[in-house]
Amino acid sequence: MKKLLRSFVLLISFPIFAQQGGMWVPSLLKGMNEKEMKSLGMKMSVTDIYDVNNSSLKDAVPQFNGGCTAEVISSKGLLLTNHHCGYGEIQSHSTVEHDYLQDGFWAKSYAEELPNPDLEVTFIVSIHDVTKEIMNGVAALQTEADKKVAIQKNMSQLQKSFKREAWQNVMIRTFYEGNQYMLFVTESFEDVRLVGAPPSSIGKFGSDTDNWVWPRHTGDFSLFRIYADKNNRPAKYSKDNVPYTPKHFFPVSINGIQPNDFTLVYGYPGKTQEYLPSFAVEQIVNDLNPAKIEIRDKALKVADGFMRQDQAIKIQYASKYAGIANYWKKWIGESQGLKKTNAVAIKKTFEQEFLKRANSDAKFTEYRNLLPQFEKIYADIKPYALARDYFMEVVLRNNELLSVGFRLYQLENAFAKVGAQGFNDRKENLIKGLEALYKDYNSDVDKGIFAETVKLYGTKAPANLTPAVIQNKDYNQLANEIYSKSTLTSYDGLKKLLNGSAEDVLKKMQADPGYVLAKNLAENYFNNIAPKYDQMALELEGLQRNYMKGQLEMFPDARIFPDANSTLRVTYGKVNGYQPSDAVTYAPITYLDGVMEKYVPGDYEFDVPKKLIDLYNSKDFGPYADKNGKLPVNFIATNHTTGGNSGSPALDANGNLIGLNFDRVWEGTMSDIHYDPSICRNIMVDARYILFVIDKFANSKHLIEEMKIVKPKNTKKTKR
Ligand code: ARG
Ligand code: GLU
Repeated sequence: MKKLLRSFVLLISFPIFAQQGGMWVPSLLKGMNEKEMKSLGMKMSVTDIYDVNNSSLKDAVPQFNGGCTAEVISSKGLLLTNHHCGYGEIQSHSTVEHDYLQDGFWAKSYAEELPNPDLEVTFIVSIHDVTKEIMNGVAALQTEADKKVAIQKNMSQLQKSFKREAWQNVMIRTFYEGNQYMLFVTESFEDVRLVGAPPSSIGKFGSDTDNWVWPRHTGDFSLFRIYADKNNRPAKYSKDNVPYTPKHFFPVSINGIQPNDFTLVYGYPGKTQEYLPSFAVEQIVNDLNPAKIEIRDKALKVADGFMRQDQAIKIQYASKYAGIANYWKKWIGESQGLKKTNAVAIKKTFEQEFLKRANSDAKFTEYRNLLPQFEKIYADIKPYALARDYFMEVVLRNNELLSVGFRLYQLENAFAKVGAQGFNDRKENLIKGLEALYKDYNSDVDKGIFAETVKLYGTKAPANLTPAVIQNKDYNQLANEIYSKSTLTSYDGLKKLLNGSAEDVLKKMQADPGYVLAKNLAENYFNNIAPKYDQMALELEGLQRNYMKGQLEMFPDARIFPDANSTLRVTYGKVNGYQPSDAVTYAPITYLDGVMEKYVPGDYEFDVPKKLIDLYNSKDFGPYADKNGKLPVNFIATNHTTGGNSGSPALDANGNLIGLNFDRVWEGTMSDIHYDPSICRNIMVDARYILFVIDKFANSKHLIEEMKIVKPKNTKKTKR
């Protein structure tokens, strides 16, 4: 009986053992990861995923514009990413007359594809462990500052000397918080053109209300194309460039997904902090997140009020608004999730175990004092961290007049450092660089945001770290004064201010009340906040490196993946629903029926295009419906993703594209700090919905024809 029980336990323990998340380096999957991936159903080998000498999946996965991921889906360089990743480009081609955000855009031929001067995509050619080279001579150094300098020097040397082709670049990043260094040889393409985008009522359906939320019904995709020179190499935009021939592109599967199917997400997760001590997490939940949330809350309310009244302002502020709203909402979910999953208590329990192991063996002596040191510095840094967040959020992120003032402050400093010639060069760059900002600037909106957010800064940031000029003020009056007198409220005003000799310009700047305030806030930041903050942050960096090293040494069997750092990673899992709260269960797949359930005619978030309603009513789903005749829209799985994974390909067991990652579920947004397998899920657009929209909604069959579609084996090939 006992034996039977034991084998029973063994039998069931595998599927019950929850898969723990993790974002893994694609060149290091052999061993534990490969085994786990196969046990979850993967049919490929890890060399199919990453290989230096042969083409592999990684050759189809570039980073998109620094912050998102994309994937190549045809032999002609057709690129798929999220609508929200291409949003800035779609917006930049839009006017009130041709509003591609509202109506969508579909190029009917190569000639109609729209160039984007500032857009680039970057592929990884190869990955190399260079820890030895980077750490050379570092261990002997005493202070964190000296170590940092030596590491930087080693990095820039290696960056220059590492062998690569003329059109390639080299970048080096740290892994495991300074315990490992990896070098990436990369190739960046700068001629990337807009091919297609659905209207926002599909691509951004549900908008901010549904953002970070499951169940979801968003067709969050857009299409671009990479162009290369005649030799298929990266090149600046030219009308002579030709569609890029990729080393690999993903076939798109319309076989569909089932609960428990294996999924792999390949992309560029930006930043996680999975190994913070409890003190840091407490600070995020209790102090930093609430302050940032409150600032953005005010800024968003002001912008929203204007956007609802005025279509031109709505276009101008759409992209900015979405950007600010996105993390505002994420921080709210993150704080709730950290509390609900008892992240701090779990961290504290782990810290006890860490200490126990450190005390158990003399060779672990260096780890015994880490936690009290963390505790002290986190207490000391708190007011500085808060003051820094107020400055960053109010001056640099949410208020545009002040952020322009900050750029001018840097210009004034350049004069002090490099004299008139350098000043003039930078001035010209600045004037050019700010044109785009002013194109989408409205001084009434900005003034409203100023009054609300400067008020928070003046009344809620630590008083001794806040300049007197913004304390105890009538903030509406301050806003009136500044916005009626400052020339920074328009592009013409800015150009006038910057016209003339360096001396003249500097004199005019000191007389501009907007500039004077920005300068005051910037000086306060650089004199009173940054020096202390940076010094303590550097100490924390050193502690964190040792804390990480201690975990790697004292917990040799733990699954310790390196925190995300905007480098290429693989995460895997399976299609799976979850239980967000007591008695509530979420299924893992949504359908077009759900879009229609959410439909609110004329609403700016939940309107549905007439054509989509017609297709729904006539059930004209082409080959893209599931076997019950329903059209899938989104699905969720247990892949551990974060910001930057937007646009990442979701692949099946054979490496075919089944979906497009674009979000995470509300209850699991704390996974950047504390991953909980029971409720952390990523959200993807089903590939069938993407193809349906391209084919049936946009009548762009020519795009489908350039893809390789993987169809169910038992159905006959139908001629398209
Ligand atoms: N939450 C997703 C991400 O972090 C989508 C954001 C875009 N959508 C929006 N409504 N702001 O990027
Ligand atoms: N939407 C996010 C992005 O832009 C991905 C969602 C997440 O943070 O997981 O990268």
